[in-house]
Amino acid sequence: MDRPQVAPRAAPGVTLSDTSNRLRAPRRLAAVPTDDRALADDFDLKRLPDAFYDDPFPTYRALRTHAPVKRMVGGGVFLSRYADVVAVYKDTATFSSDKREEFFPKYGASPLFEHHTTSLVFNDPPLHTRVRKLIAGALTPKHIAAMEDRLVERVDSLLDAMAARGPDAEVDLIAAFASAIPVEIIGNLLAVPNEERTPLRDWSLAILGALEPVLTAEQAALGNRAVTEMLVYLEGLVQRRRAAPGDPEIDVLTRLIAGEGGESLGAAELLHNCIFLLNAGHETTTNLIGNGLACLVEWPDQKARLLEQPKLVRIAVEEFLRFESSNQLGNRITTRATEIGGVALAPRTQVTLGIGSANRDPDAFAEPDRLDVARQPNRHVAFGSGIHQCVGMGLARLEGRIAIGRFLARFPRYKLSAPAVHARRARFRGHVRLAAIVDPA
Ligand code: HEM
Repeated sequence: MDRPQVAPRAAPGVTLSDTSNRLRAPRRLAAVPTDDRALADDFDLKRLPDAFYDDPFPTYRALRTHAPVKRMVGGGVFLSRYADVVAVYKDTATFSSDKREEFFPKYGASPLFEHHTTSLVFNDPPLHTRVRKLIAGALTPKHIAAMEDRLVERVDSLLDAMAARGPDAEVDLIAAFASAIPVEIIGNLLAVPNEERTPLRDWSLAILGALEPVLTAEQAALGNRAVTEMLVYLEGLVQRRRAAPGDPEIDVLTRLIAGEGGESLGAAELLHNCIFLLNAGHETTTNLIGNGLACLVEWPDQKARLLEQPKLVRIAVEEFLRFESSNQLGNRITTRATEIGGVALAPRTQVTLGIGSANRDPDAFAEPDRLDVARQPNRHVAFGSGIHQCVGMGLARLEGRIAIGRFLARFPRYKLSAPAVHARRARFRGHVRLAAIVDPA
């Protein structure tokens, strides 16, 4: 059977006549208009052309150049420059994370509305501070380091299963590898019994899918059903854990139930923040692993470099996070009249933070469209910044390092056997399918 060729990626504007060893072929053709001004003018998060999902970066570049504070239909703004995104993250008094005003028109009075507006990430202090403290206490560097051995075991067993399929067998790296790792880690964090983990990924995809800029009736129904089912499941789990508490040092659920310093969570706060935790670490980390493996195929010189110097993997993970940020968008709302990037914003303006764009801003990163597995410094905002900065980032980094590092050591000659298929999602960037031959004959 003929296998489709997957072209290695080159920097924009590079032609076949380039001879440097990192640039072996022209950039994959993007079916988006090449006129930057038109791209910026036409940009509408609620009406994205299909090609955007495969390659949003030309659009982000156009926005940074021509409309860095882009007024959106409906009154919000989209920020694409690094400096503006960071400034918003820092100023929590002016830019609130409270999503009630934004989400009510979108979700109505529904399980999705209740869930999102009770999660720590979509709240300001004091609820945010209380919940974050409880979760962060179980995710210290010491606790994360203690998870490494079990994670290595799990990753190796997945690698063994792929190897057992024999040379030249086709494997979907998302289904067989990337998605199986976070489910294990997050399941362990809340001590969800192994035999009860199967529905977690689908629930998580349904709830996160409902955060897309445009919500279809089908996505809303799936998301609402997932919240309802998860609540029922977690109520049972909480009851069992109250009856038989785990080790609060490592079991986040036991910590959340017990509270700390006289502070504890209400029943709904407890359940919804467990749902959030289960979801937050799933798709994002799956995509970090999948995006990293796909990037290395597109940049063979960087793959060779990582194979020569495996210790670079820690730094390489930061570059995958920057280059193909799993979480491309963030959101805030202004609490008062303010100004960003020289543009006046009225109170209650919805602000979308272009994380994926900020991470490709040439004002913050040299040659931002070049993957450099040894890039340092690398002050990307893939985990956000400020008081809401990802509380699970240490864990995500560990998962990325172990998964990608061990995969590469085991299958150094892996290649894609079909073009990578990106999910049709603007917020969470990753693949629905990444077909590969891990062990070519
Ligand atoms: C590559 C993987 C990940 C990425 C790219 C990512 C990204 C992010 C981002 C951008 C935020 C900030 C949201 C905001 O400011 O509005 C965030 C918050 C959060 N993340 Fe992650 N995340 C990842 C993995 C994880 C994991 C593994 C966990 C759990 C173990 C986790 C738990 C959380 C929590 C609880 C918050 C809310 C923090 C707060 O509001 O204070 N994340 N994440």
